[in-house]
Order: sequence, then C-alpha cells, then structure tokens
Amino acid sequence: MKIAILGTGKVGSALGSRLAATGHHVTYGSRTRAGEPGIAGQREAVASADVVITAIPGTAVLSTLEEIGEEVLGDKIVLDPSAAFTPQMTMAYPGDSVARQLQARFPRARVVKALNTMNVTIMVDPLASLPHATVFVSGDDRAAKTEVTGLLNDLGWSAGDIFDLGGVDTALATEHVAPLFFATVRVLGSPKFNISLSR
Ligand SMILES: NC(=O)c1ccc[n+]([C@@H]2O[C@H](COP(=O)([O-])OP(=O)(O)OC[C@H]3O[C@@H](n4cnc5c(N)ncnc54)[C@H](OP(=O)(O)O)[C@@H]3O)[C@@H](O)[C@H]2O)c1
Repeated sequence: MKIAILGTGKVGSALGSRLAATGHHVTYGSRTRAGEPGIAGQREAVASADVVITAIPGTAVLSTLEEIGEEVLGDKIVLDPSAAFTPQMTMAYPGDSVARQLQARFPRARVVKALNTMNVTIMVDPLASLPHATVFVSGDDRAAKTEVTGLLNDLGWSAGDIFDLGGVDTALATEHVAPLFFATVRVLGSPKFNISLSR
C-alpha cells in the first residue's frame, strides 16, 4: 500500500521502518524535513497515499489535516495512533477524542484509531511472549478496519491480539487510557508493557 506517515518522530519512524520492511511504499510528510530522502511535505505525502498515519501530537492532528485540505484527504484511510495532552500532560479533550473529532470534521475520510494504548516499542513488537497482548481498534468503516488489520498484522500483531471495539466513538475509551498508562509507567519504571484484555 502507499502509506503517508505524518511526523518523523519516534512513532512515525518506527511504524515507517517496519511497514517499509514488509513491502509497503512509505513516504513521510514533514513540516521540517521535506526534501530529505523519503520525506515530502505533508500535503504532497498525503496526496499520493492510500493510507495516512497521524504520528504527530494529538493536539496538532485536526489543524494539520485542515491545512492539508479536505480535497486532498478525500476518502483515504486515516490510521490515528495519536494522544492529545495539554502542556501539563492532562487530557486535552476530556470526554472527547481526537479520532471522533477527526471523523466529524472530515466525514469522507475513514478514520481508524489504533496503537495509541502502548509505547512505540510495543507497537512494532507486540511482546510475542505475552499470552494476551491487545491492540484496540475503533472506526466506523469496516473496510478501512480490515485494511488496518492487515497493517497491524505486518507490524507483528496476530488476529487474536486485535480487538475491534466498534465505531469511532469508542476511541474515547482508548484515548482516555492515558492516565492509567502513565501511572503504570511510574510504578514499573518502564513503558514496555501492554494493556491487554483478559477473559
Ligand atoms: N512515543 C510513544 O511511545 C507513543 C505511544 C502512543 C501514542 N503516541 C502518540 O503518537 C504521536 C507521535 O508521538 P511521537 O512519540 O512520535 O512524538 P515525537 O517523537 O515528538 O514526534 C512527533 C512528530 O510530529 C511532527 N509534528 C507535526 N506537527 C507537529 C506539531 N504541531 N508539533 C510538534 N510536532 C509536530 C514532528 O515531525 P516533523 O517536524 O517532521 O513534522 C515530530 O517529529 C503523538 O500523538 C503521541 O502522543 C506516542
């Protein structure tokens, strides 16, 4: 698939490397590094892609896509792993989610929330030794979720690890796992764990 990754930071580069290694055509869309090998401007990267990954601060997702333009975004799949915090690291959108706002603002785009409940190291290495690693998926468009499931498989997630929570409204639940995530990091002294479903 042709994948545009917005953001050249930790998440963007980890996902991009792994997806490129599994045969996808990855172009980064950057505010600051366009012109470097494999890196275009944000609008240019999105224009040529089937899937857009928003590996940028959650508080910048709406304004960034707004700038890229609805006509460029069209009905592309948007895989959103972002988290949105205030400068004080509290939830930027209490009672709401980046993904829901994105879907409401760009109704033709097919937004899928995933990978936001874990550290970047786990996104591309889902702790194969754990019996029940989980990646939660939220989105309204079934076909888009099927495509994203394929990408998750390429990142190392097996079918049993992928838990479809339902529509994009359910992204509120996974985005609000952040306080639990950070409290756990403080106790464990490490972000290398997975919040998983046991049943
Ligand atoms: N790191 C994790 O373990 C982790 C886990 C779960 C979720 N997330 C979420 O994933 C997203 C990316 O995280 P990250 O760790 O990759 O962050 P990061 O290392 O700080 O990189 C973020 C990238 O976003 C781009 N960007 C675009 N617009 C921006 C803006 N207005 N302000 C700042 N940067 C902007 C920058 O790339 P350019 O300058 O090239 O445009 C920057 O390198 C965030 O929403 C984060 O909350 C991260």
